[in-house]
Amino acid sequence: MNMIRTALVAGVVAVTASMTFSSANAAGDAPHAPEHHWSFSGLFGTYDRAALRRGFEVYNGVCAGCHSLRLVAYRNLMDIGFTEAEVKAIAADVDVPAEPNEEGEIEDRPGIPADKFKSPFANENAARASNGGALPPDLSLIIKARLNGSNYVNGLLTGYTDAPAGEEVPEGMYYNANFSGHLIAMAPPLSDEGVDYADKTKATVKQQAEDVVTFLTWAAQPELEERKRMGIKVILFLLLMTGLLYVLKRRIWADVH
Ligand code: HEC
Repeated sequence: MNMIRTALVAGVVAVTASMTFSSANAAGDAPHAPEHHWSFSGLFGTYDRAALRRGFEVYNGVCAGCHSLRLVAYRNLMDIGFTEAEVKAIAADVDVPAEPNEEGEIEDRPGIPADKFKSPFANENAARASNGGALPPDLSLIIKARLNGSNYVNGLLTGYTDAPAGEEVPEGMYYNANFSGHLIAMAPPLSDEGVDYADKTKATVKQQAEDVVTFLTWAAQPELEERKRMGIKVILFLLLMTGLLYVLKRRIWADVH
């Protein structure tokens, strides 16, 4: 009996300790991403279509110079409101390697809607060589790959500041208040009026960050709206079912006093 009690106490202590330590670890010294209100958050949230469109313009005009988006195809843009003609034009704007011709040579051809977004670099080594040794990660799933992803990337894009007095920033590194360790090899990618929005929205850094994060969240979770719609339907169904069962129960037990 005593042995069992000792074993139980030891177990509880071990579990509590591991929970305490792992949560301390998870918090780490990484800065906490600033909260932001998103069109797509909450039970009824949906992607703001205008923000998605502008976000694509930011990705295409700025981020695509260094970051690939390998899991997204040009035709996926039709899901967020681009017309077929627009998608054809966007795809045709890039050159992609064609199938080998009769001599076995690979030439370029204009992109088509079924092509995946073209990567800016031929391979990882080329990407590192152009970025002082640092690798710009593929952005297709970055929102899922980082804790609290949308807020995190938004914080990162708007977190560039001067380093505190006395802090050394090495050559090729930049100070960012919201990056773990504060030193990042990505130069501040956004600047006011850095893109010309087709809808004439004023392109502040804050606006561009919000738009491109909306776009990248869609890229990582294109099924988000469908998932929420389904969730609401399930809840409605369960409520209806509960009501029906309640009425049924009243009927069945009506004569029992
Ligand atoms: C000139 C090249 C360049 C451009 C343009 C650029 N990036 Fe980066 N980015 C990098 C490099 C290099 C890294 C890796 C930094 C490091 O590891 O220190 C990086 C890292 C990142 C990361 C990962 C940070 C992390 O937590 O590891 C995100 C997210 C990101 N960039 C988003 C963007 C977005 C969004 C844009 C467009 C608005 C953009 N980048 C434009 C070069 C670039």
